[in-house]
Amino acid sequence: MSMRAHVGDQLIVESPTTGATERDGEIVGLHHDDGTPPYDVRWSDSDRITLVFPGPDAHIHPTGDEPEPQREETGRRGSATTHSGARSLSEAVVMSLVEDATAAPSMHNAQPWRFEYSRRSRVFRLRADLRGALPHSDPELRALHIGCGAALMNLRVAVAHEGWEAATRLLPDPVDPMLLASVTLTRPLGDEADPAALYPAVRTRHTSRYPFAETEIPASVRSALVDAAHREHVSLSFVSGWHLQYVVDLALEAEARNLTDPGVAADLARFTRTTDDTRPATEGVPEYAFGPRRRIGKVPVRDFAGGKSIPGRPAADFETFPHLVLLSTSRDRIVDWLRTGQAVERVLLRATLAGLSASFVTQALEWHDLRWPLRDPTSAMAHVQMVLRLGYGPRGRQTPRRPVHDVLDIEP
Ligand SMILES: Cc1cc2nc3c(=O)[nH]c(=O)nc-3n(C[C@H](O)[C@H](O)[C@H](O)COP(=O)(O)O)c2cc1C
Repeated sequence: MSMRAHVGDQLIVESPTTGATERDGEIVGLHHDDGTPPYDVRWSDSDRITLVFPGPDAHIHPTGDEPEPQREETGRRGSATTHSGARSLSEAVVMSLVEDATAAPSMHNAQPWRFEYSRRSRVFRLRADLRGALPHSDPELRALHIGCGAALMNLRVAVAHEGWEAATRLLPDPVDPMLLASVTLTRPLGDEADPAALYPAVRTRHTSRYPFAETEIPASVRSALVDAAHREHVSLSFVSGWHLQYVVDLALEAEARNLTDPGVAADLARFTRTTDDTRPATEGVPEYAFGPRRRIGKVPVRDFAGGKSIPGRPAADFETFPHLVLLSTSRDRIVDWLRTGQAVERVLLRATLAGLSASFVTQALEWHDLRWPLRDPTSAMAHVQMVLRLGYGPRGRQTPRRPVHDVLDIEP
């Protein structure tokens, strides 16, 4: 069969003797509509683009979903078996799938996404919505892409739970960078390769800014979380020893800078909602989700009150040694941010099912000079994309989302 590729796929060239990857690059241009060679390839080792006629030692690695390496627990709603002959989903099902997608976390709950669904081709499209951009805290739009990646993961889980197999493509149109992904419903799912088991956590996962117990996380749960990230091509490591102290210090330093930075304060003011706020309560972080003020402990939970005192807000003692995990990727492209978002959500859903609560500790990632030192220099980690805090404690509360009809267009 002749080779076929899409823009964004990876071309991998293996050594004919050892089978090891000799060179890899991203396909950035096609010369034939059907995806056959040659390709314009940007090589990862030099960042140069060359025209490539792949030989027998080369193969394509798709950007989107790959066959899962192992079977996941089932938990399907199974309705696609009844839909199997149907040409499209009902409007109610489309809306409910998008509602599941929008239960995802996003920085400051800014919800920087829009969805389209085409009935004819059974395709969901996820678009970035720049109204949810944070110009001061996230000028490169990295966090925006991570939030959209998390929504994409939820959509994939919900589609699988609905009983459909789907093909996901990241950045499917090179001339439309705001089109972040397409999810095409191909056919009803078989029993294999099914992320539907994560579905019960889609609506029960919340960010919890409460103290967690200093209980160990069992090794089996830790390895399940490493596996969850790995399935989305992202590395996850638990931070320990001197590195834990270092990561905490970097986050505290970032948090201190945030408290005196007018731009960060402006982003925060736009997206926090105190009880007397008259703006629509369908976005942003509501006061009830701020969590208690930290009395003691070294947990750098972001202070959504911006250092201001809020009448009636309790104080609490947080952990001395929080469980922090870092998610990292070998490169730092938009596609890596989208993968990180999917990995973050996959890890959070898996953690929720394992009885863990979680919050984000991303402050140091938002300052250029503090992001690089976050990595563990003794590991192969390249670009840290996310810092999460995990533990056993209160679940956190549901926060509002914009209504689905505000973020979804259904095309015939
Ligand atoms: C990229 C990204 C960065 C975030 N950074 C923080 C953070 O530093 N501190 C925090 O408490 N929450 C952080 N959050 C969590 C959001 O505030 C949270 O997802 C949003 O308010 C919605 O609430 P929910 O997660 O409970 O649904 C972040 C989320 C994303 C996706």
